[in-house]
Amino acid sequence: MTIKKIGILTGGGDCPGLNSVIYGIMLKAYDAGIECVGILKGWKGLIENLTIPLNIAEQDDLHTIGGTILYTSRTNPFKGAESKEKVAHVLVDKLEELGIDALIAIGGDDTLSVADAMCKYANANVIGCPKTIDNDLAGTHYTFGFWSAVQLASNAMDNLTTTARSHQRVFVVEIMGRDAGFLTMYSGISAGADIILIPETPFDFEKDVVDVLRNRVNAGYTYHIIATSEGAYPKNESLERDFKTISKATIAKLPKDAYGNPLLVKLNISKILVDELNLREDLKVEFKNNGVEFECRSVVLGHTMRAGTPNSFDRILGLRFGLAAMTLVLEGKFGNMVSLQGNKIEMIPLSEGVKKKYITTDNDKMELRDLLVKIRYLSKQK
Ligand code: F6P
Repeated sequence: MTIKKIGILTGGGDCPGLNSVIYGIMLKAYDAGIECVGILKGWKGLIENLTIPLNIAEQDDLHTIGGTILYTSRTNPFKGAESKEKVAHVLVDKLEELGIDALIAIGGDDTLSVADAMCKYANANVIGCPKTIDNDLAGTHYTFGFWSAVQLASNAMDNLTTTARSHQRVFVVEIMGRDAGFLTMYSGISAGADIILIPETPFDFEKDVVDVLRNRVNAGYTYHIIATSEGAYPKNESLERDFKTISKATIAKLPKDAYGNPLLVKLNISKILVDELNLREDLKVEFKNNGVEFECRSVVLGHTMRAGTPNSFDRILGLRFGLAAMTLVLEGKFGNMVSLQGNKIEMIPLSEGVKKKYITTDNDKMELRDLLVKIRYLSKQK
């Protein structure tokens, strides 16, 4: 089949580098004489026929601009659908109505699962491109947007250090990452955070937080930065033993995700940690004995981590992904997505790429985190 017109859509949370991918696609498409159409607001735009023409002459240096010119949404047409096959065919018919011969879908696991289902059930001409600041997509070493977000969080913690030092405070910094701790781990290590809590390793409040603060203040430290993923969560025994402000019942009342798991991200874990720390009279005494006031504050970095321009790495990765995605369209290799393997851009099946990725315990970052936390106070102990 000859491809004359391609559609591009961006779905899920926005992410620095989305426009870089779009520009990479447009460069290659223009060179190949193919028209580009933007489908607005992710899958919602395909259902509702929301499109714009994409003319490369009007988009100079698009790869340097943050966010997405195509807008985005979290619409998933397969959610709650009885027949996946039927939905897949409706979406393919929509593409046909719009005269679109092939589609490049840029998004995270949810957006790409739609692309995958379209290919599986309706043999659609779709290519995927992995996006998320969370970096939690299997099949690619890095997603674009991740390193920009790491830098923002790392800078924020560097900056918080000066006010923490001035007031001799404990800052609990909540970092995006619902399911995986890549953002917290990398930015925490980069900024030298004193405690790093991630979803993959549920924490023991007494051992991983209170004891570390106690050891640190006794070793002479007067301020502390705790980096926590929004999805970090205490071990069950610690929840029952150490927590006064939340319990298992609090967790049971939380809204659930698509798999029926409680959405821990709704807890506001940084505030809970501050509330719990404020109840620790023993810690207050320990601080006082060392001549330090015990004051805790929480800071939620939230959407500031997705904001602003992509860094150079993400601009280039985005452009490379865009170029590679358009190449796959030209080669007719549908049902696949682009990915970064080492420093090479490679193609993998969408069904593989949409799987989730987590930090594993054998990862060197785990050891680095634990040493970074421990050795600083141990090396200063008399
Ligand atoms: O893009 C992924 C993510 O950044 C998560 O880390 C975070 O929990 C979520 O998006 C927030 O999304 P929203 O924009 O819908 O609040």
